[in-house]
Amino acid sequence: MVELEWIVTFRVLALESSCDEFAGAVIEDGVEVLASVVASQAGIHARYGGVVPEVAGREHLKNLAPVMQAALETAGLGWDELDAVAVTQGPGLGGSLLVGVNAAKAAAWARGLPLIPVHHIAGHLYANWLRDARDEWDGAPPSFPLVALVVSGGHTELFWMQDHERVERIGQTRDDAAGEAFDKVARLLGLPFPGGPEIERAARDASPERIAALPPLPRAWLPGTHDFSFSGLKTAVLNRVRQIEQAQSSGGPPLDVPAMAARFQESVVDVLAEKTAQAAAGLGAGCVIVAGGVAANGALKAALTERCAAVGLPLRVPPPRLCTDNAAMIGAAACYRRTESELDFDVFSTSGAEVFSAGV
Ligand code: KG4
Ligand code: ZN
Repeated sequence: MVELEWIVTFRVLALESSCDEFAGAVIEDGVEVLASVVASQAGIHARYGGVVPEVAGREHLKNLAPVMQAALETAGLGWDELDAVAVTQGPGLGGSLLVGVNAAKAAAWARGLPLIPVHHIAGHLYANWLRDARDEWDGAPPSFPLVALVVSGGHTELFWMQDHERVERIGQTRDDAAGEAFDKVARLLGLPFPGGPEIERAARDASPERIAALPPLPRAWLPGTHDFSFSGLKTAVLNRVRQIEQAQSSGGPPLDVPAMAARFQESVVDVLAEKTAQAAAGLGAGCVIVAGGVAANGALKAALTERCAAVGLPLRVPPPRLCTDNAAMIGAAACYRRTESELDFDVFSTSGAEVFSAGV
């Protein structure tokens, strides 16, 4: 077993395969992205309206060798110039994770390199430490203590990070994740998968007058907690859509998809932004960071910018390509979080409670 140092200077080949992207990256010192390659399957799963796990795993098998090769070629490095391999251990789809984990184990064993398992959510958070996410901050990393909001397809969680080691989850969704709600509501509105970017695009097309013609949708504030809930909102959209469709059959106007998308998005971002800013202000954080696929949403960034400014806190959101699943973030997390190299570990496909406790 190789003991790795705290913030070691090294180059890591990182792999991420937790869902429908097979990604490879080469990261130097946890900061510099020498290469970041993502083989997305969004086009394949769009046909089914969601990710089909069996298909995702099989596609990963096809993509893993070309992606690893492309990452090394782009970085201009050979295997003997790497210091470690890192891989997403979980949470995610079991079959998808197994492909990445076994590829990483094989590469590390064959090349005699240490292997670092990384928690997917830790990966999302550490996108904020990559150089590309630091540019507008003169290269400075996020300053502790901070509050971190993770909003992805499987997670909606708030963390209190006092430093790299003291990380506590203070809130989470009680039902659907924010991204899951975006995807499900998009489907209800007849928009393609993945729904988040489609809802954002549709909402941009809605005029203020047309949005005003629809009453606002509910918001689950869950006062006194840092928790979230989006299933009631999803049901509210379903009921509204049914009502409009019924009224249409007796001569009423058709469903205004852009306006409904805008009303839905506004409810989600309002709650996420307000609760995150309040949590950060209440805890005395020095800054707020955001991560995960939904962090690519411009309306969320705008709402968070406004709410964080109102409580005097700087807000950091990585560029969109570092918000959605990628391997650069896994390489960053591998460098920053104390861990031991190991080959004898399994994937975990559960979500939630074990965040940060599984070798990250
Ligand atoms: O982090 P991610 O790529 O994968 C997971 O770990 O789940 O997040 C994917 C989620 C999907 O639900 C997708 O619809 C959502 O992020 N997403 C967005 C946007 N881009 C991706 N949601 C809202 N607005 C976006 N622009
Ligand atoms: Zn993710």
